[in-house]
Amino acid sequence: MGSGYLLTASRRNNRGMNPHILGLSGSARAESYNRTLLTYALDKLNAEGATTETFSFRDHPQPLYDADLESQEGLPDSVLQMRAAIMAADGVVIASPEYNSSITPLLKNAIDWGSRMDPESKQGNVWKGKPILLLGASPGALGGVRALRVVREVFVELQAHVMPQQVAVSMAHEMFNGEGELANERTRGFLVSALKEFGPYIKRFSA
Ligand SMILES: Cc1cc2nc3c(=O)[nH]c(=O)nc-3n(C[C@H](O)[C@H](O)[C@H](O)COP(=O)(O)O)c2cc1C
Repeated sequence: MGSGYLLTASRRNNRGMNPHILGLSGSARAESYNRTLLTYALDKLNAEGATTETFSFRDHPQPLYDADLESQEGLPDSVLQMRAAIMAADGVVIASPEYNSSITPLLKNAIDWGSRMDPESKQGNVWKGKPILLLGASPGALGGVRALRVVREVFVELQAHVMPQQVAVSMAHEMFNGEGELANERTRGFLVSALKEFGPYIKRFSA
């Protein structure tokens, strides 16, 4: 990985500090390939000067969106916590599996909760204007790339800024070599390049 690219980007950003990156996984599974990939990517960003944080849907499960629940009880605590983490982040990295060629229900549910109005704070769609990097991992040959197209489409509707570059890791069960690096050199190159782009991409949208 290159040296100090995020620091360079953040020195120029108007907030005058290193970017703070939130990671979300579209799978809550304990041994999730996507959680593993997310951790790997956040570690790389961290090593380049970003502060990073993961919001875990495993530790903070969210109920299935239900308009009656919302109107009777307001937004659930786990949703409010996720929304606060999104709002506090300069950019969000999402690593998600593909289910039946599409988005996982876990991720769609979280996106939907994030798009709602919080009557307490009067804060609406928290995705609006947020820079997002999409990653995916699958034991299959396509790396979940069809799901990433769907995720991207949803975020476009929510006026988030999804970076054009994305990375889908195929054969995820063989993802890492003995040194803990992505085994496939080409995939590693794509990921390094996408992570390198993300700092300047975030900067483009920092007010
Ligand atoms: C309901 C369901 C549908 C799936 N559909 C796909 C699919 O369309 N494409 C694919 O590559 N993998 C598919 N898979 C396999 C997942 O890629 C695999 O379970 C993967 O490990 C999930 O990601 P995780 O390891 O991060 O939990 C599917 C899995 C489930 C449970």
